[in-house]
Formats: sequence, C-alpha cells, structure tokens
Amino acid sequence: MKPNVLLVGKMMPHIMEALDAAYTVHRLHEAGDRDAFLAEVGGSVRGIATPGFADRPIMDACPNAEIISSFGVGYDGVDAEYAMSRGIIVCNTPGVLDDEVANTAIALLLATTRRIVAYDRYVRDGRWPAEGDPPLTRGLAGKTIGILGLGRIGATIAQKLAVFHCEIAYHTRNRRDDQPYRYFADLVGMAGACDAIIVITPGGEATRNIVNRAVIDALGPDGTLINVSRGSVVDEEAVVSALLEGRLGAAGLDVFADEPNVPEALMSMDNVVLQPHQGSATVETRRAMGDLVVDNLAAHFAGKPPLTPVG
Ligand code: NAP
Ligand code: 8YV
Repeated sequence: MKPNVLLVGKMMPHIMEALDAAYTVHRLHEAGDRDAFLAEVGGSVRGIATPGFADRPIMDACPNAEIISSFGVGYDGVDAEYAMSRGIIVCNTPGVLDDEVANTAIALLLATTRRIVAYDRYVRDGRWPAEGDPPLTRGLAGKTIGILGLGRIGATIAQKLAVFHCEIAYHTRNRRDDQPYRYFADLVGMAGACDAIIVITPGGEATRNIVNRAVIDALGPDGTLINVSRGSVVDEEAVVSALLEGRLGAAGLDVFADEPNVPEALMSMDNVVLQPHQGSATVETRRAMGDLVVDNLAAHFAGKPPLTPVG
C-alpha cells in the first residue's frame, strides 16, 4: 500500500512525478470544494507536500499526518509551531539555494548602485546620442555593506562580496564568533554605518517590519536597501515614502508584502529595481529544492529521520 500524501498546491513536474510514483497523491489545488475534499481524504493522509503553505485547518483535517515537506527554505507560510504541537515533522529546503539567492542579492546591489536597469532604458530610449553620457554612479570598493541576517544565505553573500573589496557589517540577534565581520547589536546603528543593507532574515512575526522608518532614515538619502528575504520584514509603506521624499537613495526588491502585487508608486522610480520573487529561481536550484521535498518524504516513509527538518 502506498502512503497517502496531500499535495497542497501545484509543484514542478519532476516533484509531482516522483510523488505519484511513490504515493497515492490527493491534489487539494484541483478540488472544487476544498472542505469537502479534505473531509473525504484527510483521514487517510500521512504526508503533506506543499509549495510553502500549510495552516491549521489543513492539519486539523489530516489528523494522521506525520510530516509536512515544504518547498523553500522560508517556511513562514507553514504554521510550524502548531504542526510540532501535534507531533507533525516539518521539513524545508535549506542550503541548496544559498548560492543562487546570494547571487540575486548581489545582482540587485550592482543593478541599483550602477543603475544598470535605468541605463539600459536610457540606451533603448535613444537618449544616449541625444543627451550624451548619463551621470556617474558609485562603486562598491571601500563601501560598507550591512547584512541583516547572517545565516546560510547571509554568510554566502558576505563571502561572495569579498571580491568587491567591501567592508561587511551584520546584524543578527546572536553574535557569530565564527565570522570575521563587524557585528552590530543594534539595527539602526548598523544602518547608520552602512552604504547599503541587504535583508536576508526569515519572515514571520519575529521579523515583521524590523526594517522601519528609523532604519531607513539611518541608511539615508545615499543609502541602498536590498530585500531578498520576505516582504513582511520591511515596512513597505515606509520604503515607498522614503523613496518618494528622497530620504532613501535606491532599492532593489525581490520580495513584497502582498505578492504578486507591487506598490504602484515603485513602478515609475528609476532608482528602484524590481524582481518577481525569483531569488532561487534557476532550473538547477529549483530542481535541487524539489528533490529535497521528495527526499524528506522518502526518508520518513522509509523509517529514517528526514534530511532537513526545521526546529
Ligand atoms: P537561516 O540560515 O536560518 O538564517 C537566518 C538569519 O536571520 C540568521 O542569521 C538569524 O540570526 C537571523 N535572524 C532571524 N531572526 C532575526 C531577527 N528577528 N533579527 C535579526 N536577525 C534575525 O536562513 P537562510 O537559509 O539564510 O534563509 C533566510 C531567509 O531568506 C528565508 O527564511 C527566506 O525567508 C528568505 N529566502 C528568500 C528567497 C527568495 O527567493 N528571495 C530564497 C530563499 C530564502 P539570529 O537567529 O541570531 O537572529
Ligand atoms: C522560493 C523562497 O521562491 O526558499 C525560499 O524561502 O522564498 C524561494 O526559494 C519560494 O519558496 C517559492 O515558493
């Protein structure tokens, strides 16, 4: 008998094929009436596979669930505390995306500070021959880049930034004695000492809006804010008004408070670079993340510990 697995949302074809081969898969996202569907199949479900979302009603409808395997390292869309209180193991996909997300952060830093997207438009719009060379930009060498969250991805960003000859500062709740960078216990203090900040903490209540007006004002009119973590970590309204009022220099944003909706005011700002939450979105990295979703379930149902449980 194949174990029953609930698939909460559509996932990449290679994940769905692997799940179909090993389990009886119940596709919640294809159900017309989700409550009726959960009432019908929930009792049989032993595993839950999700693109990143699993709330209490889903868990309550699956009283025999043993494991939730979630796509993505961030699991702020999974009520992990509730799952654990019910003895359900929660797994995410850490590590395999560090390089790519770090590359995205650095690409956004370069794109904003060197005005790559704005100057691409300048060329395409025929302004170069008409108006001559555009204004000079600022380089990274000798600048101080603050990393908010020096975990797997933050530390990878710091390591990669070494080739740009930047000074690295960081803010976390716990100082990391294994890292050589300058630690700031106070986020506003770090922002005041930095030319740019890269945000790469988890989302969720503990980090909600920690990048607030005070942090943005400390970063200042020549400062650059890069966010590749979650939209919830940054007070989006405060960022928009700081950009509109010239109190913040530039922003590179991969994540937003209400994805896929992006504040209209940002659309026309040429000191802002916008991405559709694609930090990890390469073929290679997404395949590795998908493999981990499948491998965590496989280990569990083979009676072994899952590879990457959270907590
Ligand atoms: P991680 O290894 O767990 O690192 C998280 C870091 O954030 C740690 O240094 C942690 O240090 C710090 N942190 C946590 N809460 C904090 C707080 N309240 N104030 C200050 N620092 C805090 O996680 P990771 O693997 O690097 O991933 C980080 C996050 O990146 C994910 O959770 C996800 O939201 C986001 N992400 C986004 C994309 C994308 O496509 N844009 C892709 C992958 C990941 P302390 O515990 O000492 O505070
Ligand atoms: C994914 C992410 O884009 O891993 C994360 O936390 O944000 C990204 O890698 C996201 O999980 C897709 O749902």
